[in-house]
Amino acid sequence: TRRITVHDIAAATERGEKWPMLTAYDAMTASVFDEAGIPVMLVGDSMGNCHLGYETTVPVTMDEIALLSAAVVRGTKRALVVADLPFGSYQEGPVQALRNATRLIKEAGVGAVKLEGGERSHEQIRLLVEAGIPVMGHIGLTPQSVNAMGYRVQGRGEEAAQQLLRDAKAVQDAGAFAVVLELVPAELADEVTRTLHIPTVGIGAGSGTDAQVLVYTDMVGLTGGKVPRFTKQYANLRQVLGDAAKEFADEVVGGTFPAPEHTFH
Ligand code: KIV
Ligand code: NA
Repeated sequence: TRRITVHDIAAATERGEKWPMLTAYDAMTASVFDEAGIPVMLVGDSMGNCHLGYETTVPVTMDEIALLSAAVVRGTKRALVVADLPFGSYQEGPVQALRNATRLIKEAGVGAVKLEGGERSHEQIRLLVEAGIPVMGHIGLTPQSVNAMGYRVQGRGEEAAQQLLRDAKAVQDAGAFAVVLELVPAELADEVTRTLHIPTVGIGAGSGTDAQVLVYTDMVGLTGGKVPRFTKQYANLRQVLGDAAKEFADEVVGGTFPAPEHTFH
């Protein structure tokens, strides 16, 4: 089996097929999703919140993204693996972006990178694409800018909607192969999807986008506390894991684990 490429993704959208993307941060989980047929896996900087225990994505480093991206690549045979460029790894300019994206391609073996920002990031996207690195854009809510924008629905009101459309076109014109639309009104996401020829990947952007992405820890009910309204929990792994840990603990305390079948003589 060969790996899915950005061309396969574009072709699926052209055929009118919707496609799913999930985040992954380790080889084991990635292998489960790969076997489940998830075609695109995102090593998102959401690892900051869910795997590394940071409050936001802002502290995530290139070393952390590179380490976990390599693990996800090793855990998959078929999926296109996309790695996030973390905050501070591309904001200085296109040359910095190229240096860090190149590291993820060469060292971690990912097939594409993602970075945040529309018009403000178009020079970075252009240089990466010219260098042969497929780029996924990310507009609307861009969590790396949380200190400036907070976490709220983007593109509300005529002016903000026009800016989002300009950002979407800037990302496409710079050569990106797809663009994430995060937390924007469904009607606006639909308009962006109709306007662009590259696939739109929605999260909290309604059902009209070409693809959908979720943070996997939200999707399987592993995230503690409140999850955003736009996610859906397809399982309750937090409960499953907690129950398993409690049962193990009880059996150790009660002396019933290990049993004869777990024991060597
Ligand atoms: O880091 C991430 O998980 C993301 C998705 C929410 C698109 O960027
Ligand atoms: Na991200």
